[in-house]
Amino acid sequence: MVAARIKVNGKTTPISPAAPHTTVLDFLRERGLTGTKEGCAEGECGACSVLVARPGVDKPTDWVAVNACLVPVAALDGQEVVTSEGLATAGEPGGPPALHPVQEEMAVRGGSQCGYCTPGFVCSMAAEYYRPDRCAHADPAGGTDAEHGPNGFDLHALSGNLCRCTGYRPIRDAAFAVGEPTDEDPLARRREEPAPEPVATDYTRDGSSFVRPGTLAETLRLLGERPDAVVVAGSTDWGVEVNIRSRRAGCVVAVDRLPELRELRVGADHIEIGAAVTLTEIERRLDGTVPLLAELFPQFASRLIRNSATLGGNLGTGSPIGDSPPVLLALEASVVLAGADGERVVPLADYFTGYRRSVRRPGELIRAVRVPLPLSPVAAFHKIAKRRFDDISSVAVAFALDIEDGTVRKARIGLGGVAATPIRALATEAALEGRPWAAETVEAAARVLRGEGTPMDDHRASSLYRSAMLGQSLLKLYAQTTEAVSP
Ligand SMILES: Cc1cc2nc3c(=O)[nH]c(=O)nc-3n(C[C@H](O)[C@H](O)[C@H](O)COP(=O)(O)OP(=O)(O)OC[C@H]3O[C@@H](n4cnc5c(N)ncnc54)[C@H](O)[C@@H]3O)c2cc1C
Ligand code: FES
Ligand code: FES
Repeated sequence: MVAARIKVNGKTTPISPAAPHTTVLDFLRERGLTGTKEGCAEGECGACSVLVARPGVDKPTDWVAVNACLVPVAALDGQEVVTSEGLATAGEPGGPPALHPVQEEMAVRGGSQCGYCTPGFVCSMAAEYYRPDRCAHADPAGGTDAEHGPNGFDLHALSGNLCRCTGYRPIRDAAFAVGEPTDEDPLARRREEPAPEPVATDYTRDGSSFVRPGTLAETLRLLGERPDAVVVAGSTDWGVEVNIRSRRAGCVVAVDRLPELRELRVGADHIEIGAAVTLTEIERRLDGTVPLLAELFPQFASRLIRNSATLGGNLGTGSPIGDSPPVLLALEASVVLAGADGERVVPLADYFTGYRRSVRRPGELIRAVRVPLPLSPVAAFHKIAKRRFDDISSVAVAFALDIEDGTVRKARIGLGGVAATPIRALATEAALEGRPWAAETVEAAARVLRGEGTPMDDHRASSLYRSAMLGQSLLKLYAQTTEAVSP
């Protein structure tokens, strides 16, 4: 097996002697690339943002911004990374390097004061600059809305970057001023070539290993041999465990590039989403096909996190406040579990068995999530959190309703944050089904919904607040649907 190595700003470097748990952030800084900063080490601030070349949605390669503080460097064996230092290009002979267009705009529009956050902003901004379909959404008339610039720049690209001294307006001005990459731009040209293939990795130092098997069968065999192994996909949860809780694993097994977990198929009777397809890829590839998922994604963490996070990882944590389970419960999704003895399909409603526990057996992997078709036409996802973006839910409610001729034929409601596991609001569903979609029904059902689950008091919210929000959520949905049909 070839020694593990990574290409940083065009230069290939061995990963050794870094420990298997070393993050990309620490690896870069130890090699003098100190533009990449540590602000929080838990995916919250974006000071560590770097660009990674990944298989593209619309072009062979996408430049994707990720949190270098969360990703183990061994996970990027054979991959290409660009840091803020690598964005600038050689300038005039004998002169200083030429700033990258996003760096130039940040400089001339006063987008940086102390500069600590700036390299991270610049990398997130560069990823959006190179998004192939950005310019297709540009408005020649110069129009903007709260979230999009006249150049098609989607401000969500910066939702994972925090600045504590400049203020966001000059940063937004810079983002909305960047133009289109030129034909000579080396990173734009790089998008036309295939992204690096995943590399089978077995990187061991001082008794601990990072292993990337090439196939699902190899992975399942390894998980059978190493019951202590920790499975990692996007590492947005695991990276926090490593950095903040100092967790170490004897063996980490990467599943994020397994082809069997990377498929996304829209069939006649269901959509199958591979457990290792990132949330950004699902968002772009489904492009609104599942409206409930389309509502979920902008409210799930930040673009930086969604660029790595997966559904397999969100379900794999078994967290009662994960945002995808309420949505997937409302969609009546099933989980495809792969084990040494083959596959089994478990309805998500039967998957969770207790706090962070599930029917998944040791050695089993989530291979995919299946969403049955057709979809219920009335759908909404309400995430109640302290901040609008990049926050953990206090309560999350997902609705999927079939309403025909003014009567609720079918109601599926998924809840997060009100019990030890994500749950279906079964009593509320029963209170709605077969009844007219009218204020009286909805008010009665909202009272039932307030009583669902066993919400608790914690630092995010009180149990009373959580219950109140459940009821409000249904009233809000009713208001939204009736406003939509009113003349
Ligand atoms: C700043 C920040 C903000 C966040 N915001 C949100 C949010 O708004 N909403 C939300 O729900 N979550 C949020 N999260 C949590 C996290 O991003 C999600 O849970 C994400 O979906 C995890 O996916 P991953 O691929 O990164 O998982 P990983 O970290 O790679 O893995 C997480 C767990 O799942 C297991 N696992 C991974 N893949 C599989 C598989 N295929 N089969 C079986 N087990 C598997 C792993 O063993 C591990 O235990 C946030 C995290 C951070 C750091
Ligand atoms: S250091 Fe804050 S997100 Fe990585
Ligand atoms: S410029 Fe100081 S934190 Fe952003």
